[in-house]
Amino acid sequence: MRHLMTPLDFSVEELDQLFDLANDIEANMEKYAHCCAGKTLATCFYEPSTRTRLSFEAAMLNLGGNVLGFSEASSSSAAKGESVSDTIRVISAYAHICAMRHPKEGAAFVAASKSRIPVINAGDGGHQHPTQTLTDLLTIRSLKGRLDNFTIGLCGDLKFGRTVHSLINALTRYENIHFVFISPEELRVPEYITESLREKGISYEEETRLEDVLPNLDLLYMTRVQKERFFNEEDYVRLKDFYILNKKKMKLAKEDMLVLHPLPRVNEISVEIDDDPRAVYFKQAQYGVYVRMALIMTLLNITA
Ligand code: CP
Repeated sequence: MRHLMTPLDFSVEELDQLFDLANDIEANMEKYAHCCAGKTLATCFYEPSTRTRLSFEAAMLNLGGNVLGFSEASSSSAAKGESVSDTIRVISAYAHICAMRHPKEGAAFVAASKSRIPVINAGDGGHQHPTQTLTDLLTIRSLKGRLDNFTIGLCGDLKFGRTVHSLINALTRYENIHFVFISPEELRVPEYITESLREKGISYEEETRLEDVLPNLDLLYMTRVQKERFFNEEDYVRLKDFYILNKKKMKLAKEDMLVLHPLPRVNEISVEIDDDPRAVYFKQAQYGVYVRMALIMTLLNITA
Protein backbone atom coordinates (compact mmCIF):
# COMPACT_ATOMS: atom_id res chain seq x y z
CA MET A 1 0.00 0.00 0.00
CA ARG A 2 1.25 3.44 -0.97
CA HIS A 3 0.56 6.91 0.44
CA LEU A 4 1.37 10.36 -0.94
CA MET A 5 2.94 12.61 1.68
CA THR A 6 5.37 14.71 -0.37
CA PRO A 7 5.94 15.12 -4.12
CA LEU A 8 9.20 13.18 -3.70
CA ASP A 9 7.28 10.01 -2.84
CA PHE A 10 7.07 9.44 -6.61
CA SER A 11 10.22 9.12 -8.73
CA VAL A 12 10.58 11.38 -11.78
CA GLU A 13 9.75 8.37 -13.99
CA GLU A 14 6.61 7.61 -11.95
CA LEU A 15 5.57 11.25 -12.21
CA ASP A 16 5.96 11.09 -15.99
CA GLN A 17 3.67 8.04 -16.06
CA LEU A 18 1.17 9.83 -13.81
CA PHE A 19 1.17 12.92 -16.05
CA ASP A 20 0.82 10.78 -19.20
CA LEU A 21 -2.20 9.15 -17.59
CA ALA A 22 -3.63 12.55 -16.60
CA ASN A 23 -3.23 13.82 -20.18
CA ASP A 24 -4.94 10.70 -21.51
CA ILE A 25 -7.78 11.21 -19.02
CA GLU A 26 -8.14 14.81 -20.23
CA ALA A 27 -8.39 13.64 -23.84
CA ASN A 28 -10.57 10.55 -23.23
CA MET A 29 -12.71 11.14 -20.14
CA GLU A 30 -15.36 8.59 -21.11
CA LYS A 31 -12.74 5.78 -21.14
CA TYR A 32 -12.28 6.28 -17.39
CA ALA A 33 -15.90 6.80 -16.39
CA HIS A 34 -16.29 3.49 -14.52
CA CYS A 35 -12.72 2.76 -13.40
CA CYS A 36 -13.48 3.25 -9.70
CA ALA A 37 -16.99 1.79 -9.58
CA GLY A 38 -17.51 0.32 -6.12
CA LYS A 39 -14.64 2.35 -4.60
CA THR A 40 -15.06 5.15 -2.08
CA LEU A 41 -12.91 8.20 -1.42
CA ALA A 42 -13.02 9.85 2.02
CA THR A 43 -12.18 13.55 2.15
CA CYS A 44 -11.21 14.47 5.71
CA PHE A 45 -10.68 18.22 5.75
CA TYR A 46 -9.85 19.86 9.09
CA GLU A 47 -9.14 23.15 7.27
CA PRO A 48 -11.13 25.13 4.66
CA SER A 49 -10.75 24.25 1.00
CA THR A 50 -12.55 24.77 -2.28
CA ARG A 51 -10.28 23.39 -5.01
CA THR A 52 -8.53 20.51 -3.30
CA ARG A 53 -11.56 18.93 -1.66
CA LEU A 54 -13.96 19.49 -4.53
CA SER A 55 -11.47 18.47 -7.21
CA PHE A 56 -10.78 15.26 -5.29
CA GLU A 57 -14.51 14.62 -5.09
CA ALA A 58 -15.00 15.51 -8.77
CA ALA A 59 -12.10 13.20 -9.63
CA MET A 60 -13.63 10.22 -7.82
CA LEU A 61 -17.11 10.91 -9.21
CA ASN A 62 -15.65 11.19 -12.74
CA LEU A 63 -14.13 7.75 -12.19
CA GLY A 64 -17.51 6.30 -11.25
CA GLY A 65 -16.68 6.01 -7.55
CA ASN A 66 -18.30 7.33 -4.39
CA VAL A 67 -17.29 10.04 -1.94
CA LEU A 68 -17.89 10.73 1.75
CA GLY A 69 -16.21 12.93 4.29
CA PHE A 70 -16.25 16.12 6.31
CA SER A 71 -15.22 19.63 5.32
CA GLU A 72 -14.43 21.13 8.72
CA ALA A 73 -13.09 19.84 12.01
CA SER A 74 -16.09 21.23 13.86
CA SER A 75 -18.48 18.89 12.07
CA SER A 76 -16.35 15.81 12.87
CA SER A 77 -15.57 14.14 16.18
CA ALA A 78 -12.29 16.08 16.26
CA ALA A 79 -14.49 18.68 17.97
CA LYS A 80 -14.98 16.16 20.78
CA GLY A 81 -11.26 15.50 21.02
CA GLU A 82 -10.82 12.48 18.73
CA SER A 83 -7.25 12.03 17.48
CA VAL A 84 -6.28 11.84 13.81
CA SER A 85 -4.95 8.31 14.48
CA ASP A 86 -8.31 7.09 15.75
CA THR A 87 -10.21 8.85 12.98
CA ILE A 88 -8.18 7.24 10.20
CA ARG A 89 -8.54 3.76 11.77
CA VAL A 90 -12.30 4.24 11.58
CA ILE A 91 -12.25 5.78 8.09
CA SER A 92 -10.21 2.76 6.93
CA ALA A 93 -13.36 0.71 7.44
CA TYR A 94 -15.57 3.12 5.48
CA ALA A 95 -13.48 4.01 2.40
CA HIS A 96 -10.79 2.67 0.08
CA ILE A 97 -8.65 5.84 -0.04
CA CYS A 98 -8.49 9.05 1.97
CA ALA A 99 -7.44 12.63 1.19
CA MET A 100 -6.66 14.58 4.37
CA ARG A 101 -6.04 18.27 5.00
CA HIS A 102 -4.99 19.40 8.46
CA PRO A 103 -3.63 22.65 9.95
CA LYS A 104 -0.83 20.77 11.78
CA GLU A 105 2.40 19.90 9.98
CA GLY A 106 2.85 16.14 9.93
CA ALA A 107 -0.81 15.24 10.60
CA ALA A 108 -1.11 13.28 7.34
CA PHE A 109 2.06 11.34 8.21
CA VAL A 110 0.53 10.33 11.55
CA ALA A 111 -2.64 9.26 9.75
CA ALA A 112 -0.68 7.24 7.17
CA SER A 113 1.18 5.39 9.92
CA LYS A 114 -2.11 4.08 11.36
CA SER A 115 -4.11 3.67 8.17
CA ARG A 116 -5.20 0.51 6.36
CA ILE A 117 -5.98 2.52 3.20
CA PRO A 118 -3.83 4.89 1.07
CA VAL A 119 -3.66 8.38 2.58
CA ILE A 120 -3.04 11.46 0.46
CA ASN A 121 -1.69 14.57 2.12
CA ALA A 122 -4.03 17.32 0.90
CA GLY A 123 -2.04 20.01 2.76
CA ASP A 124 -0.50 19.90 6.23
CA GLY A 125 -0.09 23.32 7.85
CA GLY A 126 2.69 25.37 6.26
CA HIS A 127 4.60 22.21 5.33
CA GLN A 128 3.62 20.45 2.07
CA HIS A 129 0.79 20.30 -0.46
CA PRO A 130 1.87 17.50 -2.82
CA THR A 131 -1.28 17.25 -4.94
CA GLN A 132 -1.10 20.99 -5.65
CA THR A 133 2.46 20.35 -6.82
CA LEU A 134 1.29 17.52 -9.08
CA THR A 135 -1.27 19.98 -10.46
CA ASP A 136 1.42 22.64 -10.99
CA LEU A 137 3.81 20.23 -12.69
CA LEU A 138 1.10 18.83 -14.95
CA THR A 139 0.09 22.38 -15.93
CA ILE A 140 3.66 23.36 -16.77
CA ARG A 141 4.40 20.13 -18.63
CA SER A 142 1.15 20.30 -20.60
CA LEU A 143 1.48 23.97 -21.57
CA LYS A 144 5.25 24.25 -21.99
CA GLY A 145 6.05 20.68 -23.02
CA ARG A 146 8.82 20.23 -20.48
CA LEU A 147 9.75 20.42 -16.81
CA ASP A 148 13.39 21.47 -17.17
CA ASN A 149 15.42 24.49 -18.33
CA PHE A 150 13.33 27.20 -16.71
CA THR A 151 13.78 30.35 -14.73
CA ILE A 152 10.86 30.33 -12.33
CA GLY A 153 9.87 33.20 -10.08
CA LEU A 154 7.97 32.39 -6.90
CA CYS A 155 6.37 35.51 -5.49
CA GLY A 156 4.54 36.43 -2.30
CA ASP A 157 4.39 34.52 0.95
CA LEU A 158 7.33 32.15 0.60
CA LYS A 159 7.55 31.57 4.34
CA PHE A 160 4.13 30.08 5.05
CA GLY A 161 3.12 29.02 1.53
CA ARG A 162 3.14 25.22 1.56
CA THR A 163 2.48 25.08 -2.18
CA VAL A 164 5.76 26.91 -2.73
CA HIS A 165 7.70 24.56 -0.45
CA SER A 166 6.32 21.51 -2.22
CA LEU A 167 6.93 22.92 -5.70
CA ILE A 168 10.56 23.87 -4.98
CA ASN A 169 11.09 20.40 -3.53
CA ALA A 170 9.73 18.76 -6.68
CA LEU A 171 11.50 20.99 -9.22
CA THR A 172 14.95 20.36 -7.75
CA ARG A 173 14.90 17.00 -9.53
CA TYR A 174 14.77 18.55 -13.00
CA GLU A 175 17.75 19.90 -14.98
CA ASN A 176 18.75 23.54 -15.16
CA ILE A 177 16.06 25.18 -13.02
CA HIS A 178 16.90 28.64 -11.71
CA PHE A 179 14.72 29.84 -8.82
CA VAL A 180 13.96 33.52 -8.23
CA PHE A 181 12.40 33.99 -4.80
CA ILE A 182 10.49 37.28 -4.64
CA SER A 183 9.16 38.25 -1.23
CA PRO A 184 9.25 40.89 1.46
CA GLU A 185 12.02 40.33 4.03
CA GLU A 186 9.56 38.92 6.61
CA LEU A 187 8.18 36.29 4.22
CA ARG A 188 11.37 34.87 2.77
CA VAL A 189 11.64 31.21 1.87
CA PRO A 190 12.71 29.20 4.95
CA GLU A 191 16.43 28.75 5.51
CA TYR A 192 16.16 24.94 5.46
CA ILE A 193 15.04 25.18 1.83
CA THR A 194 17.78 27.56 0.66
CA GLU A 195 20.34 25.48 2.56
CA SER A 196 19.15 22.36 0.74
CA LEU A 197 19.40 24.18 -2.63
CA ARG A 198 22.97 25.26 -1.84
CA GLU A 199 23.89 21.69 -0.88
CA LYS A 200 22.49 20.39 -4.16
CA GLY A 201 24.22 23.13 -6.18
CA ILE A 202 20.91 24.50 -7.49
CA SER A 203 20.96 28.17 -8.42
CA TYR A 204 18.62 30.66 -6.80
CA GLU A 205 18.37 34.35 -6.01
CA GLU A 206 16.29 36.28 -3.49
CA GLU A 207 14.72 39.56 -4.56
CA THR A 208 12.19 42.03 -3.22
CA ARG A 209 10.98 43.95 -6.30
CA LEU A 210 8.92 41.92 -8.77
CA GLU A 211 9.43 44.51 -11.55
CA ASP A 212 13.22 44.02 -11.45
CA VAL A 213 13.08 40.31 -12.28
CA LEU A 214 9.89 39.93 -14.34
CA PRO A 215 11.65 40.23 -17.75
CA ASN A 216 13.86 37.22 -16.92
CA LEU A 217 11.12 34.76 -15.98
CA ASP A 218 9.73 31.83 -17.98
CA LEU A 219 7.20 31.08 -15.25
CA LEU A 220 5.77 33.21 -12.47
CA TYR A 221 4.14 31.43 -9.53
CA MET A 222 2.14 33.97 -7.53
CA THR A 223 0.89 33.22 -4.01
CA ARG A 224 -1.36 34.96 -1.54
CA VAL A 225 -0.17 36.05 1.90
CA GLN A 226 -1.37 33.26 4.21
CA LYS A 227 -3.55 35.16 6.68
CA GLU A 228 -4.38 32.03 8.68
CA ARG A 229 -0.72 31.41 9.57
CA PHE A 230 0.02 34.92 10.94
CA PHE A 231 0.25 35.44 14.66
CA ASN A 232 -0.76 39.07 14.49
CA GLU A 233 -3.27 40.90 12.31
CA GLU A 234 -1.11 44.04 12.06
CA ASP A 235 1.69 42.20 10.22
CA TYR A 236 -0.81 40.60 7.86
CA VAL A 237 -2.43 43.94 6.99
CA ARG A 238 1.00 45.50 6.37
CA LEU A 239 2.13 42.72 4.03
CA LYS A 240 -1.02 41.50 2.29
CA ASP A 241 -0.85 43.89 -0.69
CA PHE A 242 2.92 43.94 -1.05
CA TYR A 243 2.64 42.50 -4.58
CA ILE A 244 -0.13 43.14 -7.06
CA LEU A 245 0.41 41.77 -10.55
CA ASN A 246 -1.40 44.02 -13.03
CA LYS A 247 -1.42 44.85 -16.74
CA LYS A 248 1.38 47.40 -16.38
CA LYS A 249 3.69 44.85 -14.79
CA MET A 250 2.72 42.15 -17.30
CA LYS A 251 4.11 44.42 -20.05
CA LEU A 252 7.56 43.76 -18.57
CA ALA A 253 7.19 39.99 -18.89
CA LYS A 254 8.09 37.68 -21.78
CA GLU A 255 5.33 37.02 -24.29
CA ASP A 256 5.26 33.34 -23.38
CA MET A 257 5.75 33.63 -19.61
CA LEU A 258 3.04 31.67 -17.80
CA VAL A 259 1.41 33.03 -14.66
CA LEU A 260 0.40 30.30 -12.23
CA HIS A 261 -1.32 30.60 -8.85
CA PRO A 262 -2.55 27.76 -6.64
CA LEU A 263 -5.59 29.92 -5.74
CA PRO A 264 -7.46 31.23 -3.84
CA ARG A 265 -6.33 34.66 -4.95
CA VAL A 266 -6.95 37.72 -2.82
CA ASN A 267 -5.43 40.95 -4.27
CA GLU A 268 -2.07 39.72 -5.56
CA ILE A 269 -3.29 39.27 -9.14
CA SER A 270 -5.51 41.97 -10.54
CA VAL A 271 -8.61 40.63 -12.32
CA GLU A 272 -7.62 42.83 -15.29
CA ILE A 273 -5.09 40.19 -16.37
CA ASP A 274 -7.46 37.20 -16.16
CA ASP A 275 -8.00 37.36 -19.94
CA ASP A 276 -4.29 37.58 -20.75
CA PRO A 277 -3.40 34.26 -22.46
CA ARG A 278 -0.38 33.99 -20.15
CA ALA A 279 -2.66 33.83 -17.08
CA VAL A 280 -3.27 30.10 -16.70
CA TYR A 281 -4.39 29.78 -13.07
CA PHE A 282 -7.96 28.73 -13.86
CA LYS A 283 -6.72 26.19 -16.40
CA GLN A 284 -4.33 25.01 -13.65
CA ALA A 285 -7.30 24.34 -11.32
CA GLN A 286 -8.84 22.20 -14.11
CA TYR A 287 -5.63 20.18 -14.43
CA GLY A 288 -6.04 19.47 -10.71
CA VAL A 289 -9.01 17.22 -11.48
CA TYR A 290 -7.15 15.19 -14.14
CA VAL A 291 -4.07 14.68 -12.00
CA ARG A 292 -6.14 13.67 -8.96
CA MET A 293 -8.02 11.17 -11.11
CA ALA A 294 -4.68 9.74 -12.21
CA LEU A 295 -3.43 9.70 -8.63
CA ILE A 296 -6.48 7.89 -7.24
CA MET A 297 -6.17 5.24 -9.97
CA THR A 298 -2.44 4.86 -9.34
CA LEU A 299 -2.73 4.50 -5.56
CA LEU A 300 -5.61 2.03 -5.94
CA ASN A 301 -3.68 0.07 -8.61
CA ILE A 302 -6.49 0.53 -11.12
CA THR A 303 -5.95 0.62 -14.88
CA ALA A 304 -8.42 1.65 -17.57
N1 CP B 1 -4.99 25.47 -4.03
C1 CP B 1 -5.69 25.06 -2.96
O1 CP B 1 -5.19 24.26 -2.13
O2 CP B 1 -6.92 25.59 -2.85
P1 CP B 1 -7.99 25.24 -1.71
O3 CP B 1 -7.41 25.76 -0.40
O4 CP B 1 -9.24 25.93 -2.10
O5 CP B 1 -8.11 23.75 -1.65
